[in-house]
Amino acid sequence: MLRRQGYAIGDMINDTPPEKIEPGVDDDAEAVRREAGAAESSRANRGWWDRNADEYQLEHGAFLGDARFVWCPEGLDEADAGLLGDHAALRGARVLEIGAGAAQCSRWLADQGALPVALDLSYRQLQHARRIDEQAARPPLPLVQADATVLPFADESFDLACSAYGAVPFVADTTRLLREVHRVLRPGSRWVFSVTHPIRWAFPDEPGVEGLTATASYFDRTPYVEQDETGAAVYVEHHRTLGDRVRELALAGFRLVDLVEPEWPEELTSEWGGWSPLRGRHIPGTAVFVCVRD
Ligand SMILES: C[S@@+](CC[C@H](N)C(=O)[O-])C[C@H]1O[C@@H](n2cnc3c(N)ncnc32)[C@H](O)[C@@H]1O
Repeated sequence: MLRRQGYAIGDMINDTPPEKIEPGVDDDAEAVRREAGAAESSRANRGWWDRNADEYQLEHGAFLGDARFVWCPEGLDEADAGLLGDHAALRGARVLEIGAGAAQCSRWLADQGALPVALDLSYRQLQHARRIDEQAARPPLPLVQADATVLPFADESFDLACSAYGAVPFVADTTRLLREVHRVLRPGSRWVFSVTHPIRWAFPDEPGVEGLTATASYFDRTPYVEQDETGAAVYVEHHRTLGDRVRELALAGFRLVDLVEPEWPEELTSEWGGWSPLRGRHIPGTAVFVCVRD
């Protein structure tokens, strides 16, 4: 596997992160809908995830588990869902997890005998991945810090790629991301990723009843941006309609074989941000795209 950009941080994890991390600096950010390009989105989201990784892992770490593959706040578990295909075939498979965070999914993949590489934009998220490996006395996973739109791997290096709410909603140029995923996969491989269900963009991101009334246009693709007092973006998410996603996948050379909309399980009472039992009963919260690289 040839690395072209980015760097593996396995040996550096105990070093001081490259940028000073100041938790909580986004508290006063203003939420707007405005354009945000590739560079601005990448810079903002890297900073946001570096600053908020500690809080994210504290809040969601128990739900995610250390070595569990959960696709979404609805709790859909890969062990039951089988969206990655035959689990017996994972043994020895080279798997790229994109936007891996603390690499919980990669750890589950390693437990199935796969050879995962966990890639993320955020150094702090990857530090959590290393922390979990160390605390569990597990062999360290291969970690790579890079932007998903510029994958630092040779062509056809992987047999499978996956992402649970990873980079896809955060990048401005998803066509470029998909072309990169296509390039690093060998023909016939699966590419499976979950994102916020596009219909949610029409509703306020609130777990209560206010989150059940459509207040925005589903068709408005203007990014959601949180910006500081100077107008600089500190967090960005990008919206695509379902049709946009299908079209982008086809253009990049993927065949969509399933689109899974997990239902909220009756026994699940916990909330995750705007995902709640109340809203889950009425509207889908997640879309999982199951594709094959033709
Ligand atoms: C919602 S978290 C999901 C992480 C993990 N899959 C989980 O379920 O906890 C999104 C992750 O995507 C990463 N990310 C955002 N933009 C990215 C990009 N352009 N390239 C790679 N990773 C990115 C973030 O740093 C963050 O760790």
